[in-house]
Amino acid sequence: MRQLFNDNWSFKKLGIDSTYDEAANVERQPVSIPHDWLIWQAKDLYETSCGWYMKTFCLDEKYEAVNIFFEGVYMDCEVYINSRLAGEWKYGYSSFYVDISDFVRVGENEIAVGVRHRSPNSRWYSGAGIFRDVYIHCHKGARFGAGGVYFSALFNEENNAWDINLISDIVSRDNEYTVLHTLADGLGDEVLRSEEASARVSLQNPALWDMDSPHLYTLRSALYTGSSKIDEITQKVGFKTAVFTADGGFFLNKKHVKLNGVCLHHDLGCLGAAFNKEAEHRRLLIMKEMGVNAVRTSHNMPAKGFMELCDELGIAVLSEAFDIWELKKTDYDYARFFKDWYKKDVKSWVERDRNHASLIMWSIGNEIYDTHASPHGLEVTKLLRDEVRKYDYLRNAPVTIGSNYMEWDGAQKCASELDVSGYNYAERLYEAHHEKFPGHKIYGSETASRVQSRSVYHFPKSAVYMTHDDLQCSSLGNCRSGYSDRTAEYNIIKDRDCRFSAGQFIWTGTDYIGEPTPYFTKNSYFGQVDTAGFPKDAFYLYQAAWTEKPVVHLFPYWDFNQGQIVDVTVYTNQYEVELFLNGKSLGKKRTDLLLSYTLDWQVEFAEGTLEAVAYNENGAETCRDRQKSFSDTAFIRAEPNKKSLLANGTDLVFITVSARDKDGNFVANARDRVNIEVSGAGILEGADNGDSTDYDEYKGDSRKLFGGLLLVAVRAGTVAGNIGIKLSGETFAEEVINVAVEESKAAAGVSTYLPKPIISSEEVKREIPVRKIELKPERCELTKENPTVTVKFNVLPQNSTNKNIEWQIVTDSGIKTDLAVIETASASKIILTAKGDGNFRLRAAANNGKPQPEVISELHFTASGMGGVKINPYKFMPAGLYNSGNEMLDCVAGKGVGIGMEGKNKVGFENVDFGDSGSKNFAVKMIHWHTDEEVLFVLWVDGNDAGEFVYQADFVWQTYMENSFELNEKLIGVHDVCFEFKKRRDTQLYFGGFVFSEIK
Ligand code: GAL
Repeated sequence: MRQLFNDNWSFKKLGIDSTYDEAANVERQPVSIPHDWLIWQAKDLYETSCGWYMKTFCLDEKYEAVNIFFEGVYMDCEVYINSRLAGEWKYGYSSFYVDISDFVRVGENEIAVGVRHRSPNSRWYSGAGIFRDVYIHCHKGARFGAGGVYFSALFNEENNAWDINLISDIVSRDNEYTVLHTLADGLGDEVLRSEEASARVSLQNPALWDMDSPHLYTLRSALYTGSSKIDEITQKVGFKTAVFTADGGFFLNKKHVKLNGVCLHHDLGCLGAAFNKEAEHRRLLIMKEMGVNAVRTSHNMPAKGFMELCDELGIAVLSEAFDIWELKKTDYDYARFFKDWYKKDVKSWVERDRNHASLIMWSIGNEIYDTHASPHGLEVTKLLRDEVRKYDYLRNAPVTIGSNYMEWDGAQKCASELDVSGYNYAERLYEAHHEKFPGHKIYGSETASRVQSRSVYHFPKSAVYMTHDDLQCSSLGNCRSGYSDRTAEYNIIKDRDCRFSAGQFIWTGTDYIGEPTPYFTKNSYFGQVDTAGFPKDAFYLYQAAWTEKPVVHLFPYWDFNQGQIVDVTVYTNQYEVELFLNGKSLGKKRTDLLLSYTLDWQVEFAEGTLEAVAYNENGAETCRDRQKSFSDTAFIRAEPNKKSLLANGTDLVFITVSARDKDGNFVANARDRVNIEVSGAGILEGADNGDSTDYDEYKGDSRKLFGGLLLVAVRAGTVAGNIGIKLSGETFAEEVINVAVEESKAAAGVSTYLPKPIISSEEVKREIPVRKIELKPERCELTKENPTVTVKFNVLPQNSTNKNIEWQIVTDSGIKTDLAVIETASASKIILTAKGDGNFRLRAAANNGKPQPEVISELHFTASGMGGVKINPYKFMPAGLYNSGNEMLDCVAGKGVGIGMEGKNKVGFENVDFGDSGSKNFAVKMIHWHTDEEVLFVLWVDGNDAGEFVYQADFVWQTYMENSFELNEKLIGVHDVCFEFKKRRDTQLYFGGFVFSEIK
């Protein structure tokens, strides 16, 4: 008997060192498995804590073997049966069996699982708990062991047939059993049968597993004593040839295929790490729509259900096991256990997933420092490779690694020992390495790392920088992390045009919780869709490049200030695009698809309709897209992704809630609060808007829209009926939708407990967030004669709860400048006066109760005839405000700049006024990433060497550290100063800025 074991568990979170005895004596709450206790506390997602799960179960007779199979428990857990420790497991992502045969009795038994989540243990959000399915296996006689039935099908050119190997792992004391394997095609017709435990059979012309038509067969393997079946396993298998070549890339069933892949972490947005197949299904369908044909399970073994879905959907899987080996990346990560446990992990990983049709590579690690740090890494590489091959000796998939160290000898040697070489962010090396290692099969295991927030646009597009005050990343393509590709298309074109690259896996398909580079917020910004699964603009760039369908995608949304210059972008794979504003053509632009899928315009904003029409070579229209202006939200639309659910306890319906104005137009910057009430035959599973800066509970009953959208996930219980979903709020008419829940044979052992949502306060539920700040200036050019201007403003909606506006004068890079002052502010207007020549932006920001701005509105001004403004060195000067130097520098987190090598290592400031009293002392702030090594820098004053200095500090993630210095001579009056940095080639250095102390 093999049965799901998810039902009737109870749970209690205790201190990290809590014991079984303590847990056994406290009151626990019912819990629904799969479960992630951290996702229930959005404001504390990394809490160090120990979760205790318990349940009682009955065994009605004596079994020879009783095993519990855990698909995933994050991480470091102990399993107790009837108060005695029966087993433990360390890694959170590998599946494991606990043999409890000697611990159970006939009648009632108790199982307890203690899970120790010690933070930090991961570079991303891991979640915590029994986050995947649990099974119980009870057997009296012979049974399949952990290896199950190993399936391999190799095409035999000689007899034009597939040689099939079926190898059974059978545990039996007395060998009293018979075996029957049957293989049935997609229609259920049997195509093969064998009674050998380990069989070699041959099959002609099976339907192949392909990306477009992923044909699967059902392999049923049963054990019998006499005529009674004593064990059975059923699995889907497929027939394919998947060949990596050194010169021509990847071939699937002898056809060349570029792997247009994405890296995906395991969390499922508002479900956290708790696996749900429906949620994963939705996510993978969205990926497919983008043109994705492959996924890398960064950086750990996926749920079994994930592999099954990829089999069914025709998505190739690069299954990855580890992010760390012996050398840690965070204090409590798996490096603590790796040495003693990796063999068990690899066995479990390979034995569980080696038969999947979708599997194309085993990756033994991501960016493993061990391979770079010492020759020992090469030893571990070989050990891991050999362990994989030990359990996949028929080579269902080749072994690879994803490395960011390929530039260096250590990683190159490791790559030479593996079947396929994965490069992280290193397209620049491909050609040279292809020559140097002609036998290596190269692909991009990780590329791109571009960052963007859905529906957030910071102008101008030409100012590329890393951080914005609203802690969002602009979707115009003008925001990048330290190692992001420079343009969104760099990796697309590089990979497309590299004949021998098998393809790439971009970082990432969807946003994930954690690693919110470049901020300290909640989610990453790397995805082409957000954590709710809503596409960002970049989604369509990949769609244009990776699919055959005609794509024209126009952005941003069309709701800015009258007269504001807006950077308008189109992603397309068509020949030509014409842009229209309110019916008037703004010109046609031809694409050069060899170089780019992007077209740009600058358009003065005027309310109405902006439309992009795409044409083919013959001038015929192929597709069009448009952005229409809108006003405040008047009603919402709620669109479920299915009409009915099955009462199986796990089925989900996803409802997309979108804001509409009085005319039905989508309100793309709406932030209205939506209160959610679910009644009847299901529960609110969670809600998410994809906003990384929003800490409202995923499991709460009230969420704001972000970019006009909210996703509401509703789960069916195990009883048929109707689910009512009521969506209400202060700013729109109430909406109720009903979803039918149909009778289903809920799998025995499914969790029937339906948790209640976290209730928000009435005050929260009544909030009306600001959506827009409209700015109306008299004019935007200021002169010596007319340096002052009045700007009227209007906060929308008019009845917003918190209408406080913060005003700033900033540079194009969003850094505060002294070029102008705002002298007065009233309820509807401000007065602005320029103080020096230059370009600047007036910025109005509303926080909506957050510590940082949430809504930003800007206007661009120019001032002339007044002369330059002097820099005051006694106020901290952000490096991002440099006004001379040897080249454009990268603006990075915290208003600093990224320091490069020769030619990109000077940061200059002209017109620094040290006054009469002067200064001899100064301090700088820097981040020297991942090292505490010294960095040398020279301070130049008016082109003269004013001293060489050494900076050194401990490395703290994303945190500028200060060092103070003394000059030989005092600086008085006005000077040009310049910092020249001399850093090592392989380290990353951010210069945050400087401040001098005035001699009093
Ligand atoms: C890579 C790493 C990923 C993720 C990514 C962020 O170097 O492999 O796990 O951290 O950077 O850009």
